[in-house]
Amino acid sequence: MTAARELIACQEGIVLRVFRPRGSAEDQIRPTEIVMSAIKRIAVLTSGGDAPGMNAAIRAVARCALAQGWDVLGVRHGYAGLIADEVESLTGRSVSNIVQRGGTMLGSARCPEFEAEVTRRQALRGLEQNHVDGLVVIGGNGSQTGALALAEMGLPVVGVASTIDNDLAGSEITIGVDTALNIALEAIDRLKTTASSHQRAFLVEVMGRKCGYLALMAGLAGGAEIVVIPERETSPVEVATQLRAAYERGKRHALAVVAEGALYNAGKLDTWFREHSEDIGFDLRTTTLGHVQRGGTPTAFDRLLATRLGAGAVAALTRGEQGVLVGLNEGKVTTTPLAEVVGVPKAIDPELFRLASVLER
Ligand code: F6P
Repeated sequence: MTAARELIACQEGIVLRVFRPRGSAEDQIRPTEIVMSAIKRIAVLTSGGDAPGMNAAIRAVARCALAQGWDVLGVRHGYAGLIADEVESLTGRSVSNIVQRGGTMLGSARCPEFEAEVTRRQALRGLEQNHVDGLVVIGGNGSQTGALALAEMGLPVVGVASTIDNDLAGSEITIGVDTALNIALEAIDRLKTTASSHQRAFLVEVMGRKCGYLALMAGLAGGAEIVVIPERETSPVEVATQLRAAYERGKRHALAVVAEGALYNAGKLDTWFREHSEDIGFDLRTTTLGHVQRGGTPTAFDRLLATRLGAGAVAALTRGEQGVLVGLNEGKVTTTPLAEVVGVPKAIDPELFRLASVLER
């Protein structure tokens, strides 16, 4: 097993670590080889689904770390690049002019191979060979699962909460959510225009995996007749009833916002509506927004959030914190142990769901 790195002291602002033997004989360091070291170099990666604002987070991590006098390596394509040792040196200049760009300059990937311990050990060996003392992982649930696994193997890791799904415990809001929501709202506003012209109903499906946050917020801010989310089962009959009620109240359009992870997602609802078209009494169209929600320019909110969380990750490493997620809670940048974040469901605010149903009139 890779030598475990244990924080032992923090003196005069300098983080000292002892490299101790742990695990199998392969990578063990004998007591005579125990060394003390300050952080000199960190690596940063973006992983999982990209989120608008990731670039602003990379920039903040790189520039804050450089300001500490550390070297910064950017890892390409998330954990896949960590395994393949695809790294590049980041300078103040190499992260310039990216704060306003969507996507991630480092690239991202889903990497199921990283679930295997043997693969993670390979990644750790690569980091040691590159003399990396700490890692910043910018990503969502799956990415922070990998971060926790690395932290448990002894690597100083700090996660940065980033996913458009907002399904990550440990941060009230994650990087990318605001942009994705604004994109969904722009689409909804446009669809309402054409829906009114034709007196049609629309089903609009938004992303979010098993989390209904984006759908609920888009429904509230977009004026939906009904919101269908995974956290609360809604039957096709309920959806049809709500849409019909809108026409009966004199509306010229009717809108349902549906989360992709709902039991009846837009595809299933669409099929049901086709099968019952004779009894429905109104015309219905379905739009699935899909990846368009992940593209484009990050909003001011996402740029600022990403900048604060990226800076927070460097501050956490400087304080000697590791195995934590940097997030935003009650307006403040906070750290939460990754062990309390990974796999922990994040509940929808029941008051907001109730408010949505009151406004659906
Ligand atoms: O996690 C972000 C997300 O966009 C989800 O909302 C969506 O279900 C998923 O990623 C799509 O994944 P991919 O980009 O791999 O198709």
